[in-house]
Formats: sequence, structure tokens, C-alpha cells
Amino acid sequence: MTLDLSKLQGLKTPVYVYDRALLEATLQEIKSCIEGKPVMVHYAVKANCNPEIMKMIAGAGFGADCVSGGEIKAAVAAGFAPESICYAGVGKTDDEILTGVKAGIGFFNVESIEELEILNAVAKEEGAVINVALRVNPNIDAHTHHYITTGLEENKFGIDLRLLDKAIKTVASMSNLELCGLHFHIGSQITVMDPFVLLCEKINGLIEHYRKQGVEFKVIDVGGGLGIDYDNPDANPIPPFKAYFDTLLSHLHLGEGQTLHCELGRSIVGQCGSLLSKVTFVKEGIGKKFVILDAGMNDLMRPALYGAHHNIENLSAAARQGDEVEVYDVVGPICESSDIFGKEERLPATRRGDLIALRSAGAYGESMASTYNMRPLPASILL
Ligand code: LLP
Repeated sequence: MTLDLSKLQGLKTPVYVYDRALLEATLQEIKSCIEGKPVMVHYAVKANCNPEIMKMIAGAGFGADCVSGGEIKAAVAAGFAPESICYAGVGKTDDEILTGVKAGIGFFNVESIEELEILNAVAKEEGAVINVALRVNPNIDAHTHHYITTGLEENKFGIDLRLLDKAIKTVASMSNLELCGLHFHIGSQITVMDPFVLLCEKINGLIEHYRKQGVEFKVIDVGGGLGIDYDNPDANPIPPFKAYFDTLLSHLHLGEGQTLHCELGRSIVGQCGSLLSKVTFVKEGIGKKFVILDAGMNDLMRPALYGAHHNIENLSAAARQGDEVEVYDVVGPICESSDIFGKEERLPATRRGDLIALRSAGAYGESMASTYNMRPLPASILL
């Protein structure tokens, strides 16, 4: 994203700034990778539920992956076709299930045998038949941060492989459920292809095993997880979608009538957003200097929650040119020691009022913001 200071200077901060052209180019790249192939991409709404962003993604013909009744309603309002929506979650409430049934969504990703019983009861009440993809816990280590790895036995997600037979039989025994496929998700911010290859191998084994028993899956949903380059957003503004889809399509043994479904979140929106903030104070400590921003961990929670790092750029100093480089801890105003965006950051000499960009913040930034410390939610703008 090229951040043009002249367009940004008047904005009230903190504000999420999204690059419409980059999002469009990203969506176009995905479309060109999957054109003519049996692939359906559902945008993982949780990554960024800004209505304008959602509208753009819906308008480009993508489906949606939702994890709450609220997301289903927002996806429908943004223009996603209901039948293109899938709905996952370990703790769907009866109300949320009803929201999905009434909206006529494509399929539910089901996480337990207990959930099947409730789904069937709600569907019966509504006179509906629900398409069910069983979320399988493949026990694969995605080697990502332990808070965002999901496909290990110890995680709460999905049905253990040893219980899959029972779950399939349960669906078959229920009048208002139809088994349409299998669902997986091994984690997020995965930057190498090996875990996806392992996943494909696991899936091939399952497809083959169940085919012998006369069970066919139309939907093979591999979840999301493709990572972005947080260190070099300008060099790699668009994630390696070709390598990702080629890996999946070359390793998966998809049969006639089978479609690969992906639930991509971060890789679609991550690089198109920056959190813009102004410097409130430059504070001299003992042997340390702090740049104190008007954005805090409530606006961008990833550094505090996962130890994530977003590149920090001083846009005003870049425009001034020639300022000496200094070393700062860049922090927010929140009353928590974890409210830190960067330690020992090398930045051009920074002044009060300078405009700072926290890069690669389009995914899990605005959508995870809170009003902690009674601060207003950050604003947002598409440029
Ligand atoms: N499908 C399922 C079932 C998921 O749980 C997730 C993300 C996705 C798809 C989308 O994954 P993506 O393509 O975005 O990696 N807040 C964390 C990330 C949490 C991811 C949760 N699940 C972060 O800021 O890194």
C-alpha cells in the first residue's frame, strides 16, 4: 500500500485506512488462480467485517465463512449469496443456528455429535433440511503461534478422527440433516506449504476410506490459514495464492462432483489495511525513548495478544527526509504494560504530531478492536 501523506494528514486518528486498489488486485489474483477449477473461496468474515470491505468481496463473487449469527446477518446484508455462506463454530447457540437456517445458508460446519442433535431438532421445527460438513480435527501441527493453531488433538475444535464414524452414522440417522462434506482448519498465518500438504494427505485417506463404505463428500473444505508477509508488506502485498491453490489441487485427489472449499481471511484483507496513528508524546526515559501513540492495544490487539509485530513507519518523518535514525519503544496510551507495538524500533527522529502507520493491519485489526479504557472504536476509511 502506498500511503500518500497528503491524503492522510487531515484524518482523525486512530483510523484504519484500507487500500481499495490492493484489495481489488488481491481478489482478482485469487479469481485468476481458481478460474475453471472446482474451487470455491469463502471469505472468513472474522478477519475484517467492515461493511465496505465485505461488500467489495461479496461483489467480486466470493462466498462467506461465518462464525456467529451476527456474522451471518452481516454477510447477507453485505450481499453474499446465502447459499455461498458456511457457518462454523464450536458453540453455536440455538438462536444462531436458527439465524443460519432462516437465512438458507449453504452448509454448517459441525463440530460435535451433540451439535448434530440440536441442528436436527431446529431444522425439523423449521421444516428445513440442513447441509452438514463435519469438522474433523486432523491432528496436524501448523507450526504457527499456539493461540492460532487449531488442528491439534489438544485444541477444542472439530471432531476427533476416532469419533468420525459415529458422527457420520449420526447424520445418516437424522431426518433433517444431509451430509455434504468434511471440514478442516489447521491454523492461521501459515507461511510454508508443508502443513497443507500433510492435510491433503490426511484428507485423501479419509475420502478413500469412506468411498469404500459408499459415503461420498461433495464438499472438501480445508479452512483458511494462508499467511502474509508482515515483514515486507511492500515487497509482497499479495500472498502466494498460486502456490497455495497449486499445492492443494495437486495433492488432493478430488473426484467427480467434489469441490474444494477454502476459507481465506487474513490473506485476502491483511495487506490492504494500515492503522494510522498520531504521536501524542515523545517521552525520554532513563536510557530509553518512548513514542507514545494515540492508538492502543484496544485498536490493534495483535501485538499484545500474540506478540505479533506490525511494521511501524513514520510517514511524516519520511516526508521531511534526512532526519537521524533513533531507537524507540513504540507504545499506546492504555494502562497495561502489554500495550506495546514495538520495542527498540529504529525510526527517523520522531516528533509530537507525526503520522505513524502500523502496516499489514487489515486482518484481525479493526474486527478485534474494543472500547477498553472507554475509548471509542477506531474509525475506518477506504481509499
Ligand atoms: N476458518 C476457520 C474455521 C477459522 O477458525 C479461521 C480463523 C479461518 C477460517 C480464517 O483463517 P485465516 O485465513 O484468516 O488464517 N486473531 C488471530 C487469527 C485467528 C484466526 C482464527 N480462525 C490473529 O490476529 O492472528
